[in-house]
Amino acid sequence: MAIGIGIAGAGTVGGSLLRRLLEEHAVIEVKTGLDLEVRRVAVRDLSKSRPGIPADIITDDVMALVSDPEVALVVEVMGGLEPAGELVLASLRAGKPVITANKELIAARGPELFAAAADAGVPLLFEAAVGGGIPIIRPLTETLAGEQVDRVLGIVNGTTNYILTSMADDGVGYQEALAAAQRLGYAEPDPTADVSGADAAAKAAILAGLAFGIWVAPDRIHTEGITDITFADFKSAKQLGFVIRLLAVAERRPDGVSVRVHPVMLPVDHPLAAIRGATNAIYIKGSSVGELLFAGPGAGGEPTATAVLGDVIDAARKYLSGSQVAPAIKVEPGDVVDFGKVDTRWYLRLEVTDSPGVLSQIASAFADAGVSLGLVRQEGRGDSATLVLVTHTAPEAAQQAAVATLRALGVVETVASAIRVESEEA
Ligand SMILES: NC(=O)c1ccc[n+]([C@@H]2O[C@H](COP(=O)([O-])OP(=O)(O)OC[C@H]3O[C@@H](n4cnc5c(N)ncnc54)[C@H](OP(=O)(O)O)[C@@H]3O)[C@@H](O)[C@H]2O)c1
Repeated sequence: MAIGIGIAGAGTVGGSLLRRLLEEHAVIEVKTGLDLEVRRVAVRDLSKSRPGIPADIITDDVMALVSDPEVALVVEVMGGLEPAGELVLASLRAGKPVITANKELIAARGPELFAAAADAGVPLLFEAAVGGGIPIIRPLTETLAGEQVDRVLGIVNGTTNYILTSMADDGVGYQEALAAAQRLGYAEPDPTADVSGADAAAKAAILAGLAFGIWVAPDRIHTEGITDITFADFKSAKQLGFVIRLLAVAERRPDGVSVRVHPVMLPVDHPLAAIRGATNAIYIKGSSVGELLFAGPGAGGEPTATAVLGDVIDAARKYLSGSQVAPAIKVEPGDVVDFGKVDTRWYLRLEVTDSPGVLSQIASAFADAGVSLGLVRQEGRGDSATLVLVTHTAPEAAQQAAVATLRALGVVETVASAIRVESEEA
């Protein structure tokens, strides 16, 4: 029996998916036993040439996918909140399984969409929404369903990882690295969502929701981007045995969950330190399974289409079985730990006057805030000097209080950098 597929979007991901479904139809049928037939493709601009896609199945009415009785499964690969949200919800309510790659939509409306899928007894699959071609959603929701996951750390934005590794390796500045990322197609012409950390925050919300069953809206996630990192930070990182990465961090704590996105100094022997360029990776620590690392291409039409196609095949099998699908994902609102209470460590680079008593004033600022110093290194002499400091673990609010005091000290010319250090130091 042929299974009719409706696809909203024929761009980077939709174009690759369509090519696979149309050109590799027979191969997929031999491998899976499924006859997957593309019945409708919705796009925005009907005047664009779309070689290989039969003209009579192309429409600019996305909701036609819901009303067309020939369409059994709906694939949403157009992106954005609307009309994608309306399409996904209406499809689920019409009893049609939905596959989407849209992290923005899932992060913004996950609980509502999961509930709609559960009510309809149909699958809502979104393997491509985090980590592109990396299998991570299915491992979290199925393989690790019985595991107590304690921490999830992710390099989930290829653009920023490319920029950070090329700044470290090639000694180039932020703007130059960004321009190279744009030339290579890793960064959008407007890179704001990537470099501000917003894209990673949407993915962090999804990862935390699936790992802990607790939903944290992206606007409650403390988010910092990479725009303030300088070449001097990479030099210090190297000397201290660290690399710099933008991490999505989700942790289970006794008082709730903590979810945040910010640059970190990561020890060179951490599994995520080896992740370079546009590659993505998600590190999971579970109480029984231990450490897991999922790594691979986090974006790109072909890798992302592989994840979408896997979901299409899964949904088609469930559709053929004819049974109601038990909800794979249950999320509830939960306690989100105030970021000020989360234990962090900091790397700081200060420009200070080179005069007697400087160090004791700085040490007092930390001591008064209840933060102890793990490392102090002075670089340069003359009228001014650079101090590199690494603190021990203390609540984020205490670290910030110490830095605020430092900024007010006459001997501190500038706090040139403040980057958190990722470690599980007690
Ligand atoms: N690109 C990646 O590497 C990647 C990786 C992981 C996840 N994703 C996710 O996959 C989704 C698609 O990304 P993409 O890069 O493939 O986007 P894209 O290249 O910009 O393609 C978007 C497609 O959707 C169509 N579209 C947009 N708005 C529409 C509307 N209102 N009605 C009908 N069609 C509409 C566009 O039509 P026209 O062709 O007429 O413009 C285009 O075909 C997004 O949610 C994205 O976050 C992408």
